[in-house]
Amino acid sequence: MSDGKESAADVQETLQRLREEISAHNHRYYVLDAPVISDAKYDELMAQLQALEQLHPDMIVPESPTQRVGGAPLAAFDSVRHAVPMRSLGNAFEPDDILAFDKRIADTLRAAGMLGQDQAVEYMAECKFDGLAISLRYENGLLVQAATRGDGQVGEDVTSNIRTLRSVPLKLRGDFPEVLEVRGEVLMYRSDFDALNQAQQARGEKIFVNPRNAAAGSLRQLDPRITARRPLRFFAYGWGQIQGDQPQTQAGALEWLERLGLPVNSERALIKGADQLLEYYARMNERRAGLPFDIDGVVYKVNALDAQEVLGYVARAPRFAVAHKFPAQEETTLLMDIEVQVGRTGAITPVARLKPVFVGGVTVTNATLHNEDEVRRKDVRVGDTVIVRRAGDVIPEVVGPVIELRPEGAESFVMPAACPVCGSAIQRLEGEAVSRCTGDLFCPAQRKQSLLHAVGRKALDIEGLGERLIDQLVDSGRIRSLADLFTLRVEELVLFDRMGRKSAENLVAAIDKARHPSLRALLFALGIRQVGETTARDLALHFGSLDAVMQADEEALLAVNDVGPVVASSIRQFFAEAHNREVVQALLDAGVSPTVDAAPSGRLVLSGRTLVLTGTLPTLTRDEATRRILAAGGKVSGSVSKKTSYVVAGEEAGTKLTKAQDLGVAILDEAGLIALLENGR
Ligand code: IVH
Repeated sequence: MSDGKESAADVQETLQRLREEISAHNHRYYVLDAPVISDAKYDELMAQLQALEQLHPDMIVPESPTQRVGGAPLAAFDSVRHAVPMRSLGNAFEPDDILAFDKRIADTLRAAGMLGQDQAVEYMAECKFDGLAISLRYENGLLVQAATRGDGQVGEDVTSNIRTLRSVPLKLRGDFPEVLEVRGEVLMYRSDFDALNQAQQARGEKIFVNPRNAAAGSLRQLDPRITARRPLRFFAYGWGQIQGDQPQTQAGALEWLERLGLPVNSERALIKGADQLLEYYARMNERRAGLPFDIDGVVYKVNALDAQEVLGYVARAPRFAVAHKFPAQEETTLLMDIEVQVGRTGAITPVARLKPVFVGGVTVTNATLHNEDEVRRKDVRVGDTVIVRRAGDVIPEVVGPVIELRPEGAESFVMPAACPVCGSAIQRLEGEAVSRCTGDLFCPAQRKQSLLHAVGRKALDIEGLGERLIDQLVDSGRIRSLADLFTLRVEELVLFDRMGRKSAENLVAAIDKARHPSLRALLFALGIRQVGETTARDLALHFGSLDAVMQADEEALLAVNDVGPVVASSIRQFFAEAHNREVVQALLDAGVSPTVDAAPSGRLVLSGRTLVLTGTLPTLTRDEATRRILAAGGKVSGSVSKKTSYVVAGEEAGTKLTKAQDLGVAILDEAGLIALLENGR
């Protein structure tokens, strides 16, 4: 190469080397899940290869990584007849179905002399990916065709689109058979789905309702350049035609596919007997929310292929495998109405009233739509059939409408101009997402919510004062402000619905006890905007009396831990309001007198230090530990960062502990904390 001109053989060799290097990185990223180079470095290698191929176009081969996106948009997809039909699986939901499945198989195999009397059947247990089934045909190691399942016999040719998936090798590695049809699932990771939807929204384009629909929509593009921009992935779980050595077991086949360079998911397990099947199901149901992609169940397959053959098929489904489905996380139902609810601070929340639907293990009748923009974004309209989702313990959500089923004349949601409860104007300030009722405490809805907040466990902690009674007390006009609570008598309480003398007496006693709340509880109970539990505590500790907080000017407020201009101004505004001052005065008149939270005293050994508590400590409660740290002048934060001085970890400490270890933050147990409190070291 001394003359600067490379021979054709040298170029060939460089091309070969670059292609192998790039494929190896794809393999590391998508199959081994262990990338070793950055995206930038990867792009650089691709650019090098592209440049060299441009100089030598005659040396371009279809399996080159530069050839993933190519060809013009199609007019329509061609049909493909599958060499071996793509079957589907029978579904099971109940443990009994699984016991019966295992028994049927064991009986058949015993009768065939393939299983001993005391032996359990061996199964491969896998995830049931919630995506689209795909068949990939490799001839002499090269990807020649990709097809959708279609009706199982004939699918659509989506080769150009599938070639754009970097998790699908264009060329098999190692010792491949002459012909191999790989069967598997195309899907989208949830994080990729979220990012895609954000980008779609920013461009004013279609929002997808779930990763599965996004994957399907992306794969069915006639222009492969669009598919190429969609973050699709592939996992192999089976095969169709094989010309060459046949695998002996499902487990062996999956390992073999892996060696050929195909991505196979690692959440699989080789297990024996019905009990272990059910254990696997329970384990995956727990792990489900933490997986990067959606699964809608698990699949059990008899491991030995000769046993599979003996078991055979019924209709279109195999007898040797079954899909054990999780309860659906998504269902469709009718959106009967969109009502608005008024919150404690007047925030108006549109709420979807749904035809009751069983989803994710509960019956859902309502779901919040959050705010006006959210309703617009989702474009859900009264009369729509909507998709409702409840994943794990997450609150149910309306995902979006099924546009095809929209009745004619369905109208877009408009935020009402007036509060449905008090009739005051609804206002939405510029730059804010929330609309608010301007009625403040004139609005019974806001008054009820404020009272509910004030009597809550973290505020005045008055037991026996629930929503129903508060409704009655406010609606009857008996209670107009928090202070009125303290004038309630047993004789009048017994006149309300469902109020016996005993409950009325208990309630009055509870109210009486609440006359001496801690200052922080009282400050929190007042419902000052921006003042949560933590700020209320910091204010109480800093000022030591209600009067001092009320008198504090902006500057004085800014001196408090974590109080910034927004919080300070909100506190000022609250106490500047005559009505609020009257309520406070009425509270004092009714005998409410806050006890002062212990102010930091003595040596402030933790001054300037921030601690994070995680897990359960052997003797101290979370509140007690917090109080002692604050009393020593320290701060307690909810999250670990480089600025954290110590993490105090107890039993079952979670991710905060891991994070502390990662960041090299000092970790203490309870004894360590107590020592620290005593001598600051
Ligand atoms: S095996 C003969 N394994 O479920 C059995 N299928 O109704 C062929 N699926 O269309 C399927 N994960 O799209 C198999 N680990 C897995 C799967 C899986 C998802 C899908 C597949 C198929 C449907 C079966």
